Amino acid sequence: MALLFIFLVASSCSLVVTFAEEEKNVLLQVTERGEESFVMFMNKYGKKYGSREEYIHRLGVFLSNMKRAAMNQVLDPFAVHGVTPFSDLSQEEFEAFYTGILPSYSSNSLPTAPQLPVDGLPPDFDWREKGAVTHVKMQGACGACWAFSTTGAMEGAYFISSGKLVNLSEQQLVDCDHMCDVESRTDCDDGCKGGLMTNAFEYVREAGGLEDENSYPYVGTRGECKFEREKAAVGVLNFSKISMDEDQISANLVRNGPIAVGVNAAFLQTYIGGVSCPLICSKRHVNHGVLLVGYGAKGFAPLRLGNRPFWIIKNSWSDRWGEHGYYRLCKGHGMCGIHTMASAVVTTEA
Ligand SMILES: *[C@@H]1O[C@H](CO)[C@@H](O)[C@H](O)[C@H]1NC(C)=O
Ligand SMILES: *[C@@H]1O[C@H](CO)[C@@H](O)[C@H](O)[C@H]1NC(C)=O
Repeated sequence: MALLFIFLVASSCSLVVTFAEEEKNVLLQVTERGEESFVMFMNKYGKKYGSREEYIHRLGVFLSNMKRAAMNQVLDPFAVHGVTPFSDLSQEEFEAFYTGILPSYSSNSLPTAPQLPVDGLPPDFDWREKGAVTHVKMQGACGACWAFSTTGAMEGAYFISSGKLVNLSEQQLVDCDHMCDVESRTDCDDGCKGGLMTNAFEYVREAGGLEDENSYPYVGTRGECKFEREKAAVGVLNFSKISMDEDQISANLVRNGPIAVGVNAAFLQTYIGGVSCPLICSKRHVNHGVLLVGYGAKGFAPLRLGNRPFWIIKNSWSDRWGEHGYYRLCKGHGMCGIHTMASAVVTTEA
C-alpha cells in the first residue's frame, strides 16, 4: 500500500508538468490509477457503497485523502502515511465518528499524582509483554474513544493488583455515564458525542464499578443504562492526573500500569506505521483519547541525532489500523499534546 501511494504522488507531480501538452490523457491516467487504488482499498476493507453517486463521492474523498497523506508524509517523515481503513472519510466525518474527547479538562481540581523517582526506569518498557493489555477494540462510528481509554487504564490497573485480565465494558460508560468535569461544568460525558477519562473514573467510583464486556457488551450506539451494581467486576479506588513531565508519565506508567492520555489526532487518519514525529502538531487541539502502554528508547534516527525515544499507544480503531492497532509517537517533546491529559487509576474488586 505504501508503494502504491508513492506511485500516486509521483503521477500527480508529473501531472503538473505535462498538463499543457496532454491535458486529457494525463488527467484520465491519474483518475484511472486513482480509481484502481480505490478499488483495491474497497476490496481490502470490504467497502460497499449503496449507489453510483455514493461511489463517485467516496472516490473523490479517497483521492483528496491521498493528497493529504502525501502532505502528512512530508510533515511526518519517520512515519509511513497512506491508505488506511478510513481513507474514504472526509477529515470532518473522521473526527466526528472516530475521536471524541472533550476539548477542556480541569487541570487544577483533580488530585495530582505524587512525584515519582525517575532514576533507574527501564530504557524500554511494554505492558503488552506482561499480559496487562487486552486485544485492540473497535469503537466504530461512535465518538467514544474516551470510554476505551478509561477501560484500558482500568484493565491494566486491575491486572497489576489482581493478576487477572478482564475486558471491561465501554458500553456501560456510553449508556450510563453523564459525569461532568469539576471545573468546566459543561464538559460532561455524553456517549458517542465525547467525554473525558477523568470524568469516567469518577463515574465508576460513584456507581460502584464497571461490568465486564460479556455481561455488558459493546454495541456502539447510546442506549438505555442497563448497569446492575451486583454485576460490577472492577471498581475505582482512586485516580490522579499526572504532571506534564514525560519522565513522570513514564514513572507512573511503570508503577500504575497503562496511562489514559489525550492526543491531537491530526496525523492518525493516514497513519500506517513507524514513529510519528510531525514537524507541526498543535499541543492544544487534543481531540482523541488513547492509552499509553509502553515506551522504547530507540525508535528512529534523524540524521546525526542518534536514536530517539517513543511512546507505544493503544488505539481503539481495530487491529486493521496502524501497527496492528497501535501507534508510535516520539517522546519527550509533548508531541501532539500527548503530555497534557495523562491520568492514572488504581482499581478495586467491585
Ligand atoms: C476480550 O474479548 C476478546 C473479544 O471478544 C477476546 O478475544 C479476548 O480473549 C478477551 N480477553 C479476555 C482477557 O478475556
Ligand atoms: C491512590 O492513593 C494512594 C494513597 O493515598 C496514593 O499513594 C496513590 O498515589 C494514589 N494513586 C493514584 C493513581 O491516584
